[in-house]
Amino acid sequence: MTVSSAPGKVYLFGEHAVVYGEPAVPCAIERRATVTVEPRDDDHVRVVAEDLTLDGFTVEYSGSTDSGPDVDVPRPLVQAAMGYIDAAVDQARDAADAPDAGFDITVESAIPLGAGLGSSAAVVVAGIDAATRALGVDLDPEEIADRAYRAEHEVQDGQASRADTFASAMGGAVRVEGDDCRAVDAPALPFVVGFDGGAGDTGELVAGVRALREKYDFAADTVEAIGDIVREGETLLAEADPESEPSEDLLDALGELMDFNHGLLEALGVSSRSLDSLVWAARSGDAYGAKLTGAGGGGCIVALDPTDETQTALQYTPGCVDAFRAELATTGVRAED
Ligand code: PMV
Repeated sequence: MTVSSAPGKVYLFGEHAVVYGEPAVPCAIERRATVTVEPRDDDHVRVVAEDLTLDGFTVEYSGSTDSGPDVDVPRPLVQAAMGYIDAAVDQARDAADAPDAGFDITVESAIPLGAGLGSSAAVVVAGIDAATRALGVDLDPEEIADRAYRAEHEVQDGQASRADTFASAMGGAVRVEGDDCRAVDAPALPFVVGFDGGAGDTGELVAGVRALREKYDFAADTVEAIGDIVREGETLLAEADPESEPSEDLLDALGELMDFNHGLLEALGVSSRSLDSLVWAARSGDAYGAKLTGAGGGGCIVALDPTDETQTALQYTPGCVDAFRAELATTGVRAED
């Protein structure tokens, strides 16, 4: 039996614009998905995921999830989750040159699905690591990131950046621009996350931004302006001492950029009433800045605040189902067995 975990992430800056070649800075957070893999004697795959969706699911199939005769995955979120797990299994079989390998897979996740915290990337990254190790192959985190990206790319019909999967595999703060991915030396930023209980449809939201960008030059300019915010934010991080607590000046400046970034995402139509209300609750709770994280439409916001005030303000905000502090995860994918 092999067990691997991988962290979720928040976007400090740059979601959506990263799809069009602008840079983004996602940061891995200490909320992890854990995948347990036991090789089987046949070529079947059995997946048990109690907490990945509201009521959990068990699925067994042979072949692939969309062609196997014994697959019954009617619920959309289950179908989406199974798409990612199946793609991770394919990557592991390919990496180990074992096309007929079968697995019993258990997925446990503390990351809400489709909420902008990189749940699918964490499951895919941990899944590839656990399944390849179960077949006796050790991949380095860069290769896991690359294979996880290919898995997401396939499931999302080509609409995926390398951001989520690279952050989850490597841990820490990272910078992604097209195919260029690297670690960023950043101080431990005091992230607070608010969750509205919802989920956005990433494919639909990305398509909406693409359509706006094609229709209006000013929408294309908005995407580029998000890239400018990321570059400004990177300069601030590069000047900071990664070993020290972030200074008040740094938090002030990063917070201002997060607020600006949220405004531009709102203009691109990917926020929602509840995400906006959580962003405003965080700001009134004394956060240095706040923005939605991930695809938007519903899900999570991220704010910067070293005190408990923002978390408390969010907890008392109607429509907020969870508010928690999210420590930077300095380790990405790791073996837990
Ligand atoms: O909601 P998430 O965590 O899957 O993030 C999506 C981020 C986008 O930039 C909108 C798409 C992508 O693949 O980068």
